[in-house]
Amino acid sequence: MCAAADPSINSNGALIEVSGLSVYHGQLCAVDDVSFKVERGEVLAMIGANGAGKSTLLRTIAGLHQATSGSIVFNDQDVSKMAPHRRVTLGISLVPEGRRLFTSMTLEENLLVGAHYANKGPFNIAKIYELFDWMHDRRRQRVGQFSGGEQQAVAIGRALVTNPQLLLLDELSLGLAPIIIERIYALIPEIIAQGVSVLLVEQDVTQALNFANRVHCLLEGRTSLVGTPAELSSEEIERAYFGSHLSGYSQSSHGGAG
Ligand SMILES: Nc1ncnc2c1ncn2[C@@H]1O[C@H](COP(=O)(O)OP(=O)(O)O)[C@@H](O)[C@H]1O
Ligand SMILES: [Mg+2]
Repeated sequence: MCAAADPSINSNGALIEVSGLSVYHGQLCAVDDVSFKVERGEVLAMIGANGAGKSTLLRTIAGLHQATSGSIVFNDQDVSKMAPHRRVTLGISLVPEGRRLFTSMTLEENLLVGAHYANKGPFNIAKIYELFDWMHDRRRQRVGQFSGGEQQAVAIGRALVTNPQLLLLDELSLGLAPIIIERIYALIPEIIAQGVSVLLVEQDVTQALNFANRVHCLLEGRTSLVGTPAELSSEEIERAYFGSHLSGYSQSSHGGAG
């Protein structure tokens, strides 16, 4: 069930290695002993039903929640106690679920917030205006007036101007029309071509399978399946995604982290 990473990817030191991570919200264990790596140049899709712990996991990697146990090693450095802005300057950038833009600020001001933490790299505000050709003309408009798809693009731009090595994408497609989702996802290959690795959270499994080198499924906070899109059957994925109550599969354990 558990697959090795794509052998074409240099596994000599993963970009990020998450080991035995557990995160609580009060009494609730939202992420339970989860381990995985993202290799350089890879897209790892984290899938799972609503409430599976995907956002908590991404927010913990970004430093917005504290883990109760486990470690997050990024470029051979343990970042698990580091403040969020320091993680950005090391190269971890989050596009949060629901975008979380500064809606009373202009498009350009939102990008400038990201640029404040910028690392050296291919992205700057001019490059973002190249990537999204409608942005330059509308750079002085408040993003609160923008459509959902436009706001999502601004959120991606704000993350990219930091020049991340690891881009954390949380539910890009949430609330957007299919044509807009297609346009947003069409950018991912271009982003990867700039040397960015991606940890993608997506409830739309088809979308996730299209873009990911590997898939990691969470079920109630625990790892329920790991593999490449090619080697996982839709039955396996469904079972790992929804759990035993849907499939009738007897689930004495959730399976280990691979
Ligand atoms: N800030 C929070 N406070 C309390 N419980 C939370 C908080 N955020 C998420 N949870 C709970 O943690 C679990 C995992 O949530 P979340 O990480 O948002 O899952 P997903 O992104 O997979 O839908 C859910 O049961 C959710 O209700
Ligand atoms: Mg979520």
